[in-house]
Amino acid sequence: MSSIGKSINQFIIEQQLSHAGSGTDDLSGLLADIASACKKIAHLVSRSAIIGIGGASESENVQGEVQKKLDIITNDVMVEHLNCHGYLAAMVSEEIEDIIQIPEQLPKGKYLIAFDPLDGSSNIDINLSVGTIFSILRCPQGVTQPTLEDFMQAGTEQVCAGFCVYGPTTMMILTTGDGVNGFTLDRDIGEFVLTHPKMTIPEDTAEFAVNISNQRFWETPVKSYIEECIQGIDGEREKNFNMRWVASMVSEVYRVLTRGGIFLYPLETKSTSPNGKLRLMYEASPMSFIVEQAGGVSSTGYQRIMDIKPTDLHQRVPVILGSKNEVERVIGYHEEG
Ligand code: AHG
Ligand code: MN
Ligand code: MN
Ligand code: MN
Repeated sequence: MSSIGKSINQFIIEQQLSHAGSGTDDLSGLLADIASACKKIAHLVSRSAIIGIGGASESENVQGEVQKKLDIITNDVMVEHLNCHGYLAAMVSEEIEDIIQIPEQLPKGKYLIAFDPLDGSSNIDINLSVGTIFSILRCPQGVTQPTLEDFMQAGTEQVCAGFCVYGPTTMMILTTGDGVNGFTLDRDIGEFVLTHPKMTIPEDTAEFAVNISNQRFWETPVKSYIEECIQGIDGEREKNFNMRWVASMVSEVYRVLTRGGIFLYPLETKSTSPNGKLRLMYEASPMSFIVEQAGGVSSTGYQRIMDIKPTDLHQRVPVILGSKNEVERVIGYHEEG
């Protein structure tokens, strides 16, 4: 029987039951809470102009970015939906400097989560797609007040990763280490339903995504690679390339999952952000898990992103991800030096 149309909750429970010896556990409950939070965020994002929550706030986050009002509101929605059912021991958010502990009077669970409540928030006021990204880790046994060290786990330790895109349709993309599946929010019934089972990234592509205004900061391997894409058949390549840059990682990764592509936010030596822009724990790591599970590759150019053990909650890493043959070509240029 086709699994198309299955609700996200039903899908997760069945996926857990299908693994020999494992029953359903708190993960399905946690994912149901995340889905509820994302539905609320989708609603708020779509009504932001009507209810007056567009535009910038007066505060900055720990990365020195001026927060949009919706960065703050969506962070609160995530925290409120996730802290009360006893599935989590603590949370990390792009918008909050320190670990978010579960209030003392509430039950603690066995998972940790790191999230970007609103990705691509510079796109809010120009009505382009934004999203939410999350990464679920195991909390070390017996820990009820997690510390920095408890969160410092490599991407390979993730139990689950996912993201939502609030675009023409609202979608949730999910992996628990058994492939990647895409769910569309059916607003008539208020549920995410399976519409894109077993998403795979084509190995080859003729489309690249990079913010070319940063070109002067890139290292030679990335400079050479992008230059050869631009030159196409008039240079070293056997094909011509097209370029896209949405400035919402969720949209870029969704595009890569759908029709292939290579996405780069590389090292930027001599810039104010030498490690690139994207944050390891709630952007690079979960997206790398999803990309690898869909048959793609994700690297800094020098190292597999999933292998990096964080040293800081908000640390930044270079990201080069997408179609296998193109990402491996860029890695090859880094190896040549
Ligand atoms: P966020 O809105 O969560 O801070 O993340 C924005 C990120 C990412 O979504 C996107 O790929 C990148 O910033 C865009 O950066 P530029 O504005 O430098 O192009
Ligand atoms: Mn931000
Ligand atoms: Mn982001
Ligand atoms: Mn964000």
